[in-house]
Amino acid sequence: MKKPQSIPGLLSNSHRRRFRRSLLAWYDRHRRDLPWRASRDPYCVWLSEIMLQQTRVAAVIEHYRNFLRRFPTVQKLAAAREASVLAAWSGLGYYRRARMMHAAAKVIVREHGGKFPASEEKLRALPGIGRYTAAAIASIAFDEPVAVVDGNVERVLQRQSGKRLAGEELWTWANRLLEAKRPGDFNQAMMELGAVACTPRAPLCLTCPVVEMCATRGELASAGKPARQKKREIHYALNYRNRDIRDGEVLLVQRAGDASLMPGMWELPELASTNDERSPAFTLRHSITVTDYTVRVWRGGASSREFGKWIPVERLGKVALTGLARKILRKAEML
Ligand code: ADE
Repeated sequence: MKKPQSIPGLLSNSHRRRFRRSLLAWYDRHRRDLPWRASRDPYCVWLSEIMLQQTRVAAVIEHYRNFLRRFPTVQKLAAAREASVLAAWSGLGYYRRARMMHAAAKVIVREHGGKFPASEEKLRALPGIGRYTAAAIASIAFDEPVAVVDGNVERVLQRQSGKRLAGEELWTWANRLLEAKRPGDFNQAMMELGAVACTPRAPLCLTCPVVEMCATRGELASAGKPARQKKREIHYALNYRNRDIRDGEVLLVQRAGDASLMPGMWELPELASTNDERSPAFTLRHSITVTDYTVRVWRGGASSREFGKWIPVERLGKVALTGLARKILRKAEML
């Protein structure tokens, strides 16, 4: 008989049992009180897991609540216009996630009668749902014993095993460690451990519930240097008319429908050059993936009036703004 794929040096059966028990006891006592943990509704689990990809927990909380208020069910999401979905996503970035959720909601309503497919395999057939998201929803909402591997879990597994596990090895080891009776809690506990104790730099091993079963206790060197951030300066024009900002209108431009980044979303007109005799109204910093932007915002002076549209300030909350536009308008106290 062929042996299951083995990974030498990993925990014995009894150590794995201890790992599960200790990790879950820690999670039961110390888990963060996050809004999506109040529900096992697959729609809520799905929304939180998609928002949490590429976005920090603190930034997700408010968006998660607002999005659910706006689209409380998969039916409401499926029936919405894309522009409203993007407006509710505004500020989270990676807008493809919102478009894919919208597309998947339509499939769930059209092809599954509005009921979520209840297995990892069926979930993976939906737009925008890959191996991680399918396993997260299946385990948390439906108790299916499947492990998840995200960046946090990967780091926990590598430190615990002392090996540079990669690709399929990570999934195999995660599935062998999984507590099959509480798969959703186990998966969330692994992610939580990576987020709050087994952190990338300076892990808090003294607080770790499974430190006794850890081969490295935080010593595993990081694989290669992180990519160097590029620096860029960028200028935007903030044009408003009417005397009172609250009653006024602001000039926005729409990104091209075929732009590779954030197509169709609204932003402030970009200025190619600036008048150095003036000072900018304000400056802020904004990071997108590998670039740190210094953003200078100038009152008036839009060069692209002919492409722009005057949007009433009180409507800005409903417009699909880019994250940066939203940040600028907030700083200008228009949002
Ligand atoms: N990161 C992504 N999803 C998570 C979850 N459900 N719990 C903890 N951290 C997470």
